[in-house]
Amino acid sequence: MNKRMISLLRKNRRTVIGLLSGTSVDAIDAVLLQITGNGINSIIKVIDFTELAIPQQVRLAIFKNSDIKTARIEEITRLNVITGALFSDAVLKLLKRNNINAASVDLIGSHGQTIHHLPEKDNYIGYRVKSTLQIGDPAIIANLTGITTVGDFRIADCAVDGDGAPLVPYLDHILFTHKSKNRALLNIGGIANITVLKKNARKQDVFAFDTGPGNMIIDGLMYHLFKKKYDRNSQAAKKGILNTELFNYLLNDSAYKAEPPKSTGREHYGMEFQKKILNKFKKLNKFDTIRTITEFTAYAIWYNYKNYIESDCKIDELIVSGGGANNPLLMQSLKNYFKGAQVNKLKLNGITAQNKEAILFAVLANECIAGNPTNMNRVTGSTRDVILGKICQAL
Ligand SMILES: Nc1ncnc2c1ncn2[C@@H]1O[C@H](COP(=O)(O)OP(=O)(O)O)[C@@H](O)[C@H]1O
Ligand SMILES: [Mg+2]
Repeated sequence: MNKRMISLLRKNRRTVIGLLSGTSVDAIDAVLLQITGNGINSIIKVIDFTELAIPQQVRLAIFKNSDIKTARIEEITRLNVITGALFSDAVLKLLKRNNINAASVDLIGSHGQTIHHLPEKDNYIGYRVKSTLQIGDPAIIANLTGITTVGDFRIADCAVDGDGAPLVPYLDHILFTHKSKNRALLNIGGIANITVLKKNARKQDVFAFDTGPGNMIIDGLMYHLFKKKYDRNSQAAKKGILNTELFNYLLNDSAYKAEPPKSTGREHYGMEFQKKILNKFKKLNKFDTIRTITEFTAYAIWYNYKNYIESDCKIDELIVSGGGANNPLLMQSLKNYFKGAQVNKLKLNGITAQNKEAILFAVLANECIAGNPTNMNRVTGSTRDVILGKICQAL
């Protein structure tokens, strides 16, 4: 092992960059922070956060190659390198903004870009495995930035029969467990996931799962109907009214109703799901369509709380993060459903609705270096603890 790795291992305080592009494929989120210690004793100091927009042609290529009907192996192979280079650009942007060089950063933790997520153990050539694939290879990032990079966090959990998702409950547990309040943390990215933290929760008490759609259906239909990336400040939804027929059609969806543990992604709520809606409800007013999808998205979250959480843990506070926290109608709809609880957008010690998921990957990288297991068996369905992440060294 080289000297640089040995000194990295010995440090108690590390400067770390966290990188993420979620299922929305809107932008690469990049956060710069200092982490002191590790595990439950980690102390985090957020220094800066920035986003690097993903070029639309790359975004569309990722959508195309996430879909079994249109994916092509040579495109995925190239996208692995292209997105790796984009992640590196996000790092360089962050360094420049902060007037620092690569040598002053100890570590990068990168989620990559999910291209396919297969948590169901369907029979395939006589094998039944859980699997997931993230591209934007950490070896590309390490070599283009000159910073040791940990990536590919999810697959180690699949090795022990876990879904590899969600991973955010680990961070939620170490940062947000409260002495006297039952809390739930809701992240509304492309997909929505919820973490339930009973007061004084221990690691094994933490319960979390993907509830169903986050912004994915709204974004998809905004693109098809308005050629926009998303419904900025609910402008379209606010012009429409709820359509009962479409709402009832959506209620029949199986994924949001399924019992946890569960995880979902673009495989379910992506292009195919969206095209079915468009075909069936061609004549519906476009604004009503977006309004109804927005209301359904909030309903699907609440349905999961009512059916799978409330009897075990009545929450006092719902803390919302992810881009969906910026959608005012979605937030209002959640407030209407979660009447008994305080519903707030995340803002705590520099951690915000925008930067939280990127912080997760910085923390997971730090835990990987420390040798701490970060999968949560009750959450992913895995059979034992494993260390998540692959370490790529830079010269
Ligand atoms: N001002 C806003 N109004 C409405 N929706 C927003 C706003 N800002 C962000 N979003 C939503 O958040 C999404 C991005 O969320 P993000 O948390 O980055 O998701 P992911 O983790 O899947 O990348 C956008 O595509 C959009 O749907
Ligand atoms: Mg995003």
